[in-house]
Amino acid sequence: MQRVTLTPDAALTDADLDHLTRSTFVRQIEFHRTIDSTNRRALQLARELEHGGSLDGPLLVLAESQTDGRGRGTNRWWARPGALTFTLLIDSHLPQRRLPQASLTVGLAVCEAIEEFHPRSDMQLKWPNDVFCRQRKLSGILIELPLSNPRLLAIGIGININNSLRDAPEELQATATALCDVAGHTFDLTEVLTGVLNRLQYRLECIGRHDDELRTKWRERCLLTNRDVQVDLGTRKVAGRCRGIDDDGALVIETPAGLEPCFAGSVTLF
Ligand code: BTN
Repeated sequence: MQRVTLTPDAALTDADLDHLTRSTFVRQIEFHRTIDSTNRRALQLARELEHGGSLDGPLLVLAESQTDGRGRGTNRWWARPGALTFTLLIDSHLPQRRLPQASLTVGLAVCEAIEEFHPRSDMQLKWPNDVFCRQRKLSGILIELPLSNPRLLAIGIGININNSLRDAPEELQATATALCDVAGHTFDLTEVLTGVLNRLQYRLECIGRHDDELRTKWRERCLLTNRDVQVDLGTRKVAGRCRGIDDDGALVIETPAGLEPCFAGSVTLF
């Protein structure tokens, strides 16, 4: 097993980090109290690996807070301390066309892990890669393929756990939530992270082996099914009633012209 890398500003204890490497499939951890973005750092590590190093098992870049957390497209991820913000860098050999499925699978793992800590949390997937709890966003996922090394996958996850949104701006309170607000108490972040990583390992192993089960699970949790939506594809918008997620992970929209599968985009709910 690799040693944990503690950066000089580390705040989690050695015991917490040791617990993570003993109880999960993660083999190396780089912990930062503050960093610009764990995804950016993971991509940098992937570039460095290309020059001689190899990934010796899953690597976790974990931060207490980010100053420039990245979201999809031009979005930014902002969260107060108390959130889980991390990027898992893994060897995956996942073909690019399966990325939508990977996002949904990671989202599913987050739903399942959170439900273990708070069973009545009504966890759903908002295609393509948000996780909702009681109709509000609890977690965002940003999966990136390092250009320098496309056999690696950088899975960035932010989950609002102990960072209450009660005193956040009103528009954020209306759309987002934190697990502590839903449950009425705080959680041990190391325990929750351990649960999420273990569920992630299990669900990532299911890709390609238990695809039918995965598809059923995404569909059961799809927040958008039978709702009127507009999908912004970048070049054009598709509006209609969502008819679920197809076998490839595309969102299916019923439009006046027929059923249209959308492979990437951002969704507005009506
Ligand atoms: C989104 O909602 O558009 C995706 C948000 C993803 C945020 C996470 S937080 C950890 C990781 N590092 C980043 O810079 N972004 C992801």
